[in-house]
Amino acid sequence: MQRCFNNAGSASNQVKCTPMSSTILNTQDPTIRCDGVFKIFGDNAKQVLQASAGTVNAEKFKEQGCIVGVNDASFEVYPGELLIIMGLSGSGKSTLLRCISRLTEATAGNIYIDGEDILSLNNKKLIELRRSKMGMVFQSFALLPHKTVLENIAFPLQVKGVSTKKSIERASEMIELVSLSGRENYFPRELSGGQQQRVGIARSLAIEPDIWFLDEPFSALDPLIRKEMQDEFLRLQGVLSKTILFVTHDFDEALRLADRIAIMKDGIIEQLDTPANIVLNPASEYVQKFTAEVPREKVLKIESVMDVVTPGDAVGDIKVQKDAIIETVAELILNSDKPISVVDESGELVGSVSASKVISVLFGGHSPGETGQAS
Ligand SMILES: Nc1ncnc2c1ncn2[C@@H]1O[C@H](COP(=O)(O)OP(=O)(O)OP(=O)(O)O)[C@@H](O)[C@H]1O
Ligand SMILES: [Mg+2]
Repeated sequence: MQRCFNNAGSASNQVKCTPMSSTILNTQDPTIRCDGVFKIFGDNAKQVLQASAGTVNAEKFKEQGCIVGVNDASFEVYPGELLIIMGLSGSGKSTLLRCISRLTEATAGNIYIDGEDILSLNNKKLIELRRSKMGMVFQSFALLPHKTVLENIAFPLQVKGVSTKKSIERASEMIELVSLSGRENYFPRELSGGQQQRVGIARSLAIEPDIWFLDEPFSALDPLIRKEMQDEFLRLQGVLSKTILFVTHDFDEALRLADRIAIMKDGIIEQLDTPANIVLNPASEYVQKFTAEVPREKVLKIESVMDVVTPGDAVGDIKVQKDAIIETVAELILNSDKPISVVDESGELVGSVSASKVISVLFGGHSPGETGQAS
């Protein structure tokens, strides 16, 4: 996730910048590549899938004792990208994550991590790969019940060979980060669900993996701490730039964090795209329904509502980035009596945006066609 500030520079004027555009992403080798991945649950899953020749009918499969978890998933995730996975309960989000981390064996297809075919790895190599590259936060917390908070967080570091002293130091830092200071010596059963989840997050953050699998990591947290964790997460991601697969049910969370969003239904990835395209150009009726309530100002960029400036036009001294999401700079624009300057990545003036234009987006029901191209 790229973050930047407008030229005013203060924290209150913080602007969310464009997530990495697919054109930039596509010039790099993917960190994760899934090629026709299927996960069918059932004793005879392989045979049933083979007999179907890849055309999966969930109802017919069910009659044959099989449940469809993931249905023909093909996509790539690029270095430093944060891919959000959304979809209703049972749509296959956790199963997809589990297939990629090989906690579940895919029934068919290929999965590559940094170009390495992970389905061909033996157990020893797989464990090594997980330890060296992968971090996971599970929906179900998955803490070790007989270890304290501190021990739970320090444990994976010790497994990695970090000295006891260093691992305890690092674990203590993480405890502070997730606001659990004072509870170092508690056991998981003595913590609330939200607190347990924070231990899970701290444990995963401690090892700074290259690839993070986060399955609804903030869902058990109350709104205030959830927002704080998201902020912290964005700050960390700004510094560490990890490759992340993140499952959430919360669209606001998705829009705050995502570079791209995948929407799943019945095991199928219905659309995988930028937040703006998911909302403004839904690929199916399902995605349209799924995103119908998302306010446009949360996905539209300033670029899409700005006027191109011509020399001599009076524009204000305050500047916003053309990639800023409207919601993040709306207040700034609404409080200005002059049109605000819009600048590109190099600070070059490219346009201006007025309060009236922003008001028309916020309250006037602009359609994408009227406001410009989603990117
Ligand atoms: N071990 C299993 N055995 C049989 N079926 C399973 C198993 N794990 C998952 N499933 C089925 O696979 C489908 C996808 O489940 P999954 O847990 O991936 O959904 P999800 O999108 O993560 O849902 P939620 O939002 O509720 O966590 C569901 O129909 C589920 O019942
Ligand atoms: Mg799940």
